[in-house]
Amino acid sequence: MDQPQAVLFDAYGTLFDVYSVGLLAEQLFPGQGQALSVLWRDKQIEYTRLVTTSNDGAHYRPFWDLTRAGLRYACKRLRLDLTPEREQQLMNQYRHLSAFPEGREVLQALRTRGVVTGILSNGDPEMLGIAVRSAGLDGLLDHVISVDRVRKYKTHPDAYRLGTQAVKKPAAHVLFVSCNAWDALAATWFGYRTLWVNRYQLPFEELDTQPTRTGPTLDDVLAFFE
Ligand code: LAC
Repeated sequence: MDQPQAVLFDAYGTLFDVYSVGLLAEQLFPGQGQALSVLWRDKQIEYTRLVTTSNDGAHYRPFWDLTRAGLRYACKRLRLDLTPEREQQLMNQYRHLSAFPEGREVLQALRTRGVVTGILSNGDPEMLGIAVRSAGLDGLLDHVISVDRVRKYKTHPDAYRLGTQAVKKPAAHVLFVSCNAWDALAATWFGYRTLWVNRYQLPFEELDTQPTRTGPTLDDVLAFFE
């Protein structure tokens, strides 16, 4: 098959390392950091689906708000005392994430080859702008696409379609990269070529569709260009 003409990356957990959020959670709530991070993330994503599928999107709220709502829920559920100060600390940490180190090299290599690069994320434009700048990725991305434009979260096809519209290529010529199995699965269903970055040796979704490829780090993006 021809090489992809563009590569779009998911943001949180894929290009941006959310590990530091877990570390801070553990500092604030010793022994509960891992449980809090997992539940927070699950709730955040659950809320994106809830607002996308209910009442034709009437309850849409930006990802930042859903991230805060997910944090509040997770702390209540785990009976953790989320003071306003702790909430601000955790949300701030979420704003200023570092990039996975190999991501920068991969983006540079893609640009050297003339491949179009971008982010396609649930994150709202302000969050993404700050994350891209604080991770030092500005200048390496042709497109930073937020689903906020259609007010529908992945895995809605309108959200994935923003990527093909931005790069002006059919999905089959675009590689979509995500560390989230559900995101890699739905992007495959949409028609993208996909790389599932499985950093933590997790199982893929059991829904009888596989991503185009799976690899342990973002370096595996470059294997599509050999
Ligand atoms: C994103 C989340 C899903 O960046 O990781 O879209």
